Amino acid sequence: MWGFGDAYERYVGRWSRPVAVEFLRWLDAPPGRTWLDVGCGTGALTETVLAHARPAAITGIDPSEGFLERARQRVPGATFEVGNATDLGGRTADVVVSGLVLTFVPDAAQAVAEFARAGSYVGSYLWDYTSGMRMMRLFWDAAKDVDPAAASHDEGLRFSDVSGAGPLRALWTGAGLRDVEVTGIVVPTVFRDFADFWEPFLGGTGAAPAYAATLPPEQLDAVRDLLRSRLPGEGPIELTAKAWAVRGSR
Ligand SMILES: C[S@@+](CC[C@H](N)C(=O)[O-])C[C@H]1O[C@@H](n2cnc3c(N)ncnc32)[C@H](O)[C@@H]1O
Repeated sequence: MWGFGDAYERYVGRWSRPVAVEFLRWLDAPPGRTWLDVGCGTGALTETVLAHARPAAITGIDPSEGFLERARQRVPGATFEVGNATDLGGRTADVVVSGLVLTFVPDAAQAVAEFARAGSYVGSYLWDYTSGMRMMRLFWDAAKDVDPAAASHDEGLRFSDVSGAGPLRALWTGAGLRDVEVTGIVVPTVFRDFADFWEPFLGGTGAAPAYAATLPPEQLDAVRDLLRSRLPGEGPIELTAKAWAVRGSR
């Protein structure tokens, strides 16, 4: 799990933390509230809540005991328990949040219904896989040019029913939440050079790296070369990553 966490950090964890900060700023929940972080993983959003939102208490839940173990070591001051988004086990909190989780949940509508039962204020965010998460978009577009079968792995296609302004708004209003608002959060993703951009795709963790791991070496090299030809050849590679965020109240 430590190896997994390190690969995740290099691939996308380093870019998801600034999104968590912007999301909490936008959520603007008052201090002194109780929080539930659903799908907390290794605690990236949980620790950001502790640092920026002055919670009375925060619990992170996740189905993965391995992630929770790492979260407990990394994030003192929070409680971490095994749990599932579609059944929060009767838990309640003033604020229920989830960061980059709903695309992993087989029944997102059931999960949001649980969020709305458990919390007075409910917020979440997901990458804009279809276009704004540039690093992933560039990868999948190059992969599909080399291997048309990559389309069945492309998160922009697989998650279009959940990740987007319209789908998130529909999920929140469908769960009976009120004052629903959706916004785009854009953060800079600046890579030192092409190696800093490409090597995290070889770490096996995340949908694109997992797909890359299945490619024969010639095809993997072809994807790399296509990406290199589409990115600046010299100096840092300055891209952006966009997430869709949604909030509502019960
Ligand atoms: C991309 S990670 C995000 C982790 C963390 N929220 C963050 O912002 O770094 C997705 C997380 O969703 C969790 N997950 C997957 N299926 C889930 C489910 N049904 N209920 C709750 N969490 C789930 C995974 O174990 C993983 O920790």
